[in-house]
Amino acid sequence: MTLAPSSADLQQPVVRVQGLRILFPSLDGSDTVKAVDGVDFEIRPAETFGIIGESGSGKSTIGRALVGLLDATEGVVELDGRTLNSVPRRERRTARQAYQIVFQDPHAALNPRMTLMESLTEPLRIRGGVSEDEMRRKAQDSMERVGLRAEMLGRYPHELSGGQKQRANIARLLPLNPRLIVCDEVVAALDVSIRGEVLNLFADLQRDFGIAYAFIAHDIAVVAQVSDRIAVTYLGRFMEVGPAEAVTERPLHPYTTALLSAEPRPLPAHLREARRIDLKGEIPSPVDPPSGCRFRTRCPWAQARCAAEVPEWRELRPDHYVACHFATPHGIEAPPAAGEHD
Ligand SMILES: Nc1ncnc2c1ncn2[C@@H]1O[C@H](COP(=O)(O)OP(=O)(O)OP(=O)(O)O)[C@@H](O)[C@H]1O
Ligand code: SF4
Ligand SMILES: [Mg+2]
Repeated sequence: MTLAPSSADLQQPVVRVQGLRILFPSLDGSDTVKAVDGVDFEIRPAETFGIIGESGSGKSTIGRALVGLLDATEGVVELDGRTLNSVPRRERRTARQAYQIVFQDPHAALNPRMTLMESLTEPLRIRGGVSEDEMRRKAQDSMERVGLRAEMLGRYPHELSGGQKQRANIARLLPLNPRLIVCDEVVAALDVSIRGEVLNLFADLQRDFGIAYAFIAHDIAVVAQVSDRIAVTYLGRFMEVGPAEAVTERPLHPYTTALLSAEPRPLPAHLREARRIDLKGEIPSPVDPPSGCRFRTRCPWAQARCAAEVPEWRELRPDHYVACHFATPHGIEAPPAAGEHD
């Protein structure tokens, strides 16, 4: 079985995350790393939900929690209206197969000692209930669907290019009828020339099968290109979530503006002067994040209030949310206050 919804609740989100916290012990075991520290969001059917933010901001940890590779320390991850824990134990493995992750390293997911045919039929063999002929036919269909020739099924991973491997990784998921695929830096390791092809493949599969994606990447231009909405993550929290175009062209949060300012590509004209922010210093430790607004130690607009109060999550434009005391639909209200930094 899968957790696929009935036709009566097709509008139900594929993913609903509430109050998610994921804590790890620090390396020496004496402290707690707050990798994800209170995030709420939904991913809608056939939607691409982009997640951006600097290294260490918690993107991959969120992605792993969505597919059940990590348990929430606190909070709830609901997939098609149910938590995986609520699925009877014997059905859990099958249920989990509808929620998959593809990583940056296309080599890692394919077993080097298995032919592609073996790799592609393995998930169905584990699930059981499918004849050998049916599995082989599904493997051939999947290969064709991702633009690989069926004759390649006899090959081993080392006989494929990086782009072909990433296509094979995707082909491996299709017989599982995925509802959600978490894409964690899926094109980062690929040549720029084949990135577009792989991104187009993801878009085609979404159109044809209604798959929802959580799309995690450092490259903001890529995330902006493929996403319907974008979440901007900083130190385990969301700073801003909204429609992709609005977030990247008319950001509400100073951190988003700073991330965009750090982009090597030219910014849209209206962002180039007044709203440019240089992102200074390092991201603070997730063991002991700043009080109040986590971005305050690097924010040129930080005021005393920013250290004292956690900013509320406010909808300033339709479907566009921000966590900043001074954000308005038109920009930041507070004057720069350099002296307020710690
Ligand atoms: N298993 C773990 N044990 C301890 N700390 C961890 C573990 N996994 C992640 N962390 C820490 O949690 C924080 C978030 O890590 P995460 O990998 O989610 O970041 P990220 O946003 O994906 O970064 P990157 O862009 O570099 O991939 C980091 O400080 C990281 O060191
Ligand atoms: S102005 Fe204050 S609340 Fe807004 S981002 Fe800067 S530090 Fe955070
Ligand atoms: Mg990561």
